[in-house]
Amino acid sequence: MADAARNNSGLAKTGIAGRTILLVIAGGIAAYKSLETIRRLKDRGARVRCVLTQGGAEFVTPLSVQALSGEPLFQDLFSLTGEGEMGHIRLSREADLIVVAPATADILARMAAGLANDLATTVLLATDKPVLVAPAMNAAMWSHPATQRNVATLRGDGIQFIGPAAGDLACGEVGVGRMVEPDQLVAAIAALLSGAAGRADLSGRTALVTSGPTREAIDPVRYIGNFSSGKQGHAIAAALARRGAATTLISGPSSEPDPEGVTVLRVESAREMLAACTAALPVDIAVCAAAVADWRVEAMTAAKIKKGANAPALQLIENPDILATLARATLRPQLVIGFAAETESDPETLVRIADAKRAKKGCDWIVANDVSAGTGVIGGERNAVHLVTAAGTESWAAMDKTAVAEKLVDRIAAAVTAAAPAA
Ligand code: C5P
Repeated sequence: MADAARNNSGLAKTGIAGRTILLVIAGGIAAYKSLETIRRLKDRGARVRCVLTQGGAEFVTPLSVQALSGEPLFQDLFSLTGEGEMGHIRLSREADLIVVAPATADILARMAAGLANDLATTVLLATDKPVLVAPAMNAAMWSHPATQRNVATLRGDGIQFIGPAAGDLACGEVGVGRMVEPDQLVAAIAALLSGAAGRADLSGRTALVTSGPTREAIDPVRYIGNFSSGKQGHAIAAALARRGAATTLISGPSSEPDPEGVTVLRVESAREMLAACTAALPVDIAVCAAAVADWRVEAMTAAKIKKGANAPALQLIENPDILATLARATLRPQLVIGFAAETESDPETLVRIADAKRAKKGCDWIVANDVSAGTGVIGGERNAVHLVTAAGTESWAAMDKTAVAEKLVDRIAAAVTAAAPAA
């Protein structure tokens, strides 16, 4: 991977800009998502070369692929010899990363068997670069022992997986088999190219993180908000993406920059955050780090409230609890993690409150911290937390929020891989 993170000048590059991605489009209805993926990668400054299999060309036209990528399209194994060099070898070596999307059951089987009976499989056999595959197929085909055997073989060979996700399938059935959405694929590509793939133990997993404050409108110019900066939540999203998880960050208003390799959705109110979270399901991991406003004004006024003799009385009503909703959702993530920010300096009391919150909200873990004024946690760079789980509590010494994020993601990776080993 270290080699893959270097460009021709020998300088280490991170992220997507300036990188060459070879996209293999195989024959599945999800091939249309690959067209959108090409556009997004190009928008982020990547060079995208494409190989279209014979099956792929039944779903998208060579013309669309070539026009979107702005590069010649490669389709035929035997028309590529030239300049004294085998075309497929050059094609596979000049890329920083090869992405197979959609990856059908057939191409996975041929890759696992080491076949080289068309341009795509020949390139995949010849490459010395990392390979990411995004499977897409009927749920029964995905769960078939033959496919699962091939997936296990490919993982053993170091191939990275993203998805498939659960949901409606093109065949009319519902189940696991949908190709991930273009933004998740682009996030996984960014994570792999950012060099963190040395330990991509969350590749093939999906994660959702909430971060920052929410704003609840009072009138067109005023809102109820809080001092949350989003630093901790953004750091967790960045750490999940670095470890290979396809990560969606749903953030309230925050001046933190968008983390590399993460799909960021910006929202304002608690209700918008909840809607974005439920739309992002299913995911494997949910981390609710946002400081969601507990109350909103019952009826926002259409006009600015005028200053008068009396201060206005605001009628507040409770906001929906996003963490509790995710923890009780039909598509409940495998691991649901909440935060408990309390103004409570006694560690024992803090942990007791956090454990009660864990039970009440139905989540698996609570990250508890003391946010009293003197601690400097809100908006600051450092945090001292307790990780409260059913198995017990770990109390970590104060450290940078990025270090807290890394340590939390270590625990997350251990938990999800122990529960469901990556094939
Ligand atoms: O109940 P309390 O606000 O202390 O709970 C904190 C935890 O619950 C955090 O993980 C926060 O992100 C989440 N939460 C939520 N929706 C709310 C309130 C809190 O997701 N409306």
